[in-house]
Amino acid sequence: MRTNTQITLDINNLMADVVGSRYGISTAQIEAYQNEAKAAYENILSRRGTSGLGWTELPYNQDEIVEEIEKTAEYIREEFDNFVVLGIGGSDFGPIAVNLAINHLNYNVIPMVKRNGPRFYVEDNIDPERMSALLDVIDVKKTCFNIITKSGATAETMSQYLIISTALKEALGDNWTKHIVATTDHEKGNLIRLALEQSFKLFYIPETVGGRFSELCPVGLLPAAVCGIDIRALLEGAKAMDKRIKSPIVWENPALLEALIQYILMEDMGINVHVMMPYADSLKYMADWFCQLWAESLGKNVTRKGMAVNVGQTPVKALGVTDQHSQLQLYTEGPYDKVITFLHVENFRTTVKIPEGCEEYPNIAFLGGKSLNELINAEYHGTQYALLRSGRMSQTIHLPAINEYTLGQLIYFFEMVTAYVGELLDINAYDQPGVEESKIAAYAVLGNTDEKYQAKQQEMAAAPKGFKKFVL
Ligand code: PA5
Repeated sequence: MRTNTQITLDINNLMADVVGSRYGISTAQIEAYQNEAKAAYENILSRRGTSGLGWTELPYNQDEIVEEIEKTAEYIREEFDNFVVLGIGGSDFGPIAVNLAINHLNYNVIPMVKRNGPRFYVEDNIDPERMSALLDVIDVKKTCFNIITKSGATAETMSQYLIISTALKEALGDNWTKHIVATTDHEKGNLIRLALEQSFKLFYIPETVGGRFSELCPVGLLPAAVCGIDIRALLEGAKAMDKRIKSPIVWENPALLEALIQYILMEDMGINVHVMMPYADSLKYMADWFCQLWAESLGKNVTRKGMAVNVGQTPVKALGVTDQHSQLQLYTEGPYDKVITFLHVENFRTTVKIPEGCEEYPNIAFLGGKSLNELINAEYHGTQYALLRSGRMSQTIHLPAINEYTLGQLIYFFEMVTAYVGELLDINAYDQPGVEESKIAAYAVLGNTDEKYQAKQQEMAAAPKGFKKFVL
């Protein structure tokens, strides 16, 4: 067992014993909800692998798929200079986050021999300038495009598909289809039809796995493998976390404890903002990934029984130490409505020494001989202390190092926390009606002639128009 590679959760600075009883959470508060937490645990256990919860089984049920992904990835690495993911939401945050976490921070810029794989782009927006900027820097003849969409129907992704397939056809004629890999549902949507029609290389997103829970299926595994990431270790990490959270007792199950704490913070203490603050550039996009998971899963207006609730906690991404000089002032002195989660890395993959110098300036000279590693660590401790001193709650997830194994644990941990919080709130954590509404409205605006969109067009036409006087 790789115990020294386990991530750990330290909730000390959330607890009344440490942060003070006015703002901290007490052991008694946690224990008062033991039964609810146990029920949440058992509900998830009994529904593992079923609709919405298919992700729980991904560390166990993908042996053949992993082999196929590795084979395809090897082919792509040999044949192409660029690998471009076209996708949005759950189809892009994970691939970006994992590549940034594991690979060189300037992955696309370092020489090919060091990178040992194609350049990696994730196009998760439809800003026209961004698409033309991409086409300015890649040669489509040397590029493989991975179209990822669970629904197979998302306007953003399918419009990108139209642009790219046209460019490929123009550049390559009949051979264009060899430059596309589709990752989509077995049945739903149009991408699966196109893929079968055109014989694209195809990977499936399991029916029971939703977008934001899909990083550990082909959605995330193929891009990771293409970028030389050890996807087996990623899945091993997830499995190790799953094994660690097998108890219905909160003090023995860090994911359940974390979920219960967040539930109490939201529901009983009005802590409606959750700041995710890694102290490592390579984890910057893990904060983005977390924000989507947390916001789309938990921001809901009704319970599963249809009762109006309007629950959720607004996730905010911050980066240590950069945002110490931007957001920290607000966190230490603004409203008492936030909890800060630090992601702290114990061992960076490199050490950068700060040279001696400027002896005539003692406040600079004292830095000489130390390392950036020590400095970033000191700043993390300093921030933690500043928050504590002002009675603000924080917690830390310690990563002994950043690698596939610890990242797999982190991903699975947050997914399970989200699932447990969903149970505690009695909401459906696996749908996103608010997002669907905006998708339908956008299609209606664009004049889609399907009945559903026509009806939306009429509804929108009847909506309040606003007034000129309010446009300045
Ligand atoms: O988590 C989700 O389900 C969403 O964020 C989706 O990933 C996002 O809307 C994109 O959908 P799709 O994968 O169907 O293109």
